[in-house]
Amino acid sequence: MTSKRVSRHSKGHRPIGVFDSGLGGLTVVREIRRRLPHETIVYYGDVARLPYGTKSPEQILRFSIQNTLFLLKHKVKALVIACNSSTSAAANFLRRHFNVPIVDVVQPAAEVACRSTRSGRIGVIATSATIGSRVYEKALKKRNPKVKVFGEACPLFVPLVEEGWLEGKITHDVLDAYLRKLKKKKIDVLILGCTHYPLLKKSIQKVMGSRVRLVDSMAPTVQQLAQLFDRRDLHAAKKQKGLLKIYVSDKPGNFVKVGESFLGEKMNFVEVVRQK
Ligand code: DGL
Repeated sequence: MTSKRVSRHSKGHRPIGVFDSGLGGLTVVREIRRRLPHETIVYYGDVARLPYGTKSPEQILRFSIQNTLFLLKHKVKALVIACNSSTSAAANFLRRHFNVPIVDVVQPAAEVACRSTRSGRIGVIATSATIGSRVYEKALKKRNPKVKVFGEACPLFVPLVEEGWLEGKITHDVLDAYLRKLKKKKIDVLILGCTHYPLLKKSIQKVMGSRVRLVDSMAPTVQQLAQLFDRRDLHAAKKQKGLLKIYVSDKPGNFVKVGESFLGEKMNFVEVVRQK
């Protein structure tokens, strides 16, 4: 990652906009904070309407457009769709209709998975919306038409994470029930195709065994973002202190505790904004 000097007319000082259906996207924010500490981030988590992953593509598209419009009001210099369900239902539309560079979470993870597999047998776990859209299958086959892709929707994983049930017997049993079929497919790479799932990584690895490499989108997404900033001269100046502003459509009781576990730091700015 190189950081060029910021020119006078650069938009570098502007924030990065990031959205997700809820808190999952904070795993991506965590990585942005680590790798690009001078960047200010405006995050929108649509907690009131979570989960997206069980909803229709039309509904997810409608929510994703609203989230984008909200972030554009903050004059963001780039948009990160930190939600696989939104990426599958809305990324193409948002790229066509909004004049802002967009990074999604599917393409970067597909790229890493294709590079990592030896056997060419890749598993994908995600929400029902993401699996139903076959977005990963298309992204993987575009890079390597020979790969075999095995998808499994795991709708109970998101509520487990939102409840903070990341380990223990019940979590293990739920994971095992969903992953049982995939374990028989002889995959060597498993894509965690939901931004909530990195929090379950340890437990998923235990169930899948150490021979399966788990790929999530956090690091490769931020890498793509940094490359975009390199190309377009969009990096924040080194003297800028990166702030994090979190907007949510609802703030349930356990919000701060769970949110901070996603983020790995204190949340100092949280504001509730209701969408119509
Ligand atoms: N974080 C969302 C994703 O990456 C899933 C959560 C949801 O179902 O809303 O797909």
